[in-house]
Amino acid sequence: MPFAGRLSNALSFLLMDFSLDLILPSIEEPIQRRVPDLPSIKEIMSSNSLVFFNSEPLVDFPKLTSARIIDIGGITVSTGHSPLNKKWSAVLDLRPHTILLSFGTIAKAFGMPEEFKKTIRETFRKFPDVTFIWKYEKPKHKVSEGISNIIESTWVPQRDLLHDPRLSAFITHCGQGSMLESIAVGVPLITIPMIGDHLRNAYQMERRGIGLRLEKTDLANGGKLEHAIMEILRNDSYRKSARKAQKMVADRPFAMKEIFVKNMEFLVNHGPLRQLDHYGRHLNFVQYYLIDVIAFVSFIAILIVTAVALSMRRVLRRALIRKWKQD
Ligand SMILES: *[C@@H]1O[C@H](CO)[C@@H](O)[C@H](O)[C@H]1NC(C)=O
Repeated sequence: MPFAGRLSNALSFLLMDFSLDLILPSIEEPIQRRVPDLPSIKEIMSSNSLVFFNSEPLVDFPKLTSARIIDIGGITVSTGHSPLNKKWSAVLDLRPHTILLSFGTIAKAFGMPEEFKKTIRETFRKFPDVTFIWKYEKPKHKVSEGISNIIESTWVPQRDLLHDPRLSAFITHCGQGSMLESIAVGVPLITIPMIGDHLRNAYQMERRGIGLRLEKTDLANGGKLEHAIMEILRNDSYRKSARKAQKMVADRPFAMKEIFVKNMEFLVNHGPLRQLDHYGRHLNFVQYYLIDVIAFVSFIAILIVTAVALSMRRVLRRALIRKWKQD
């Protein structure tokens, strides 16, 4: 990241930490009324023996980690799926391509600004040989009225659709669940992150060449969405990358369920695993970021440079005076 990005990253991190301090007491207080000597939530979080983390390291950004943190991302993705029923199968046979659009269950499609819906409608209309399945919760809005290549539905069999080889791409908010589900089936994505972790997930997919990333404000005008759909349909590299990630995840040396169960069994037999506690947790800000060490070393370095500069100045001056006297 360039400097501005890193600065904003660092500030967001501190802000997040600060907001946790503001929010947590309101959760702790009612619990502590019943269980008076319960440690604070932060204390409990940081003194867990193990932390199971919903991340698939084969697609996530590489991260510095600790032996306490165990990635089990994808454990929630169900491996089974059923073939599509007649109705949905017929939808996938309508046109050479089918693209699914779903923003998940939290960000409701009907809640998005009207101009975004208009962009989606008008853009989809420009692809007559693509069927768009749009998960939209309010049929009475008639959001797709008059556009024959949009199939609107309040519910879609997302997993079964993703599994079907006739699906060309998935336009998604890129929530953790949808992302991991898509990776498990190797379908290329157009990501339009909404809130929270979506943005980070979308960057993961972009980095792995699996997904094209749009900002949600890009929906204010059609150009970007249209270009993204065109690109995902004609450029095979996204599907290839998605398939590659799918194969890797399927082929991972240890299944996430196995990792989880084995670690839990180990914890039951040998826990609590206090020896895994990180010392960093007991350091203050200055110590943790080595600010005192950097300050001390810089001070010594400045001292040495100054001393050398002063003595060189003296030597030079003497030499000059000698030369001047000789002349
Ligand atoms: C396909 O997309 C990839 C990744 O964005 C890009 O590197 C490549 O140049 C594209 N290929 C074509 C033919 O546009």
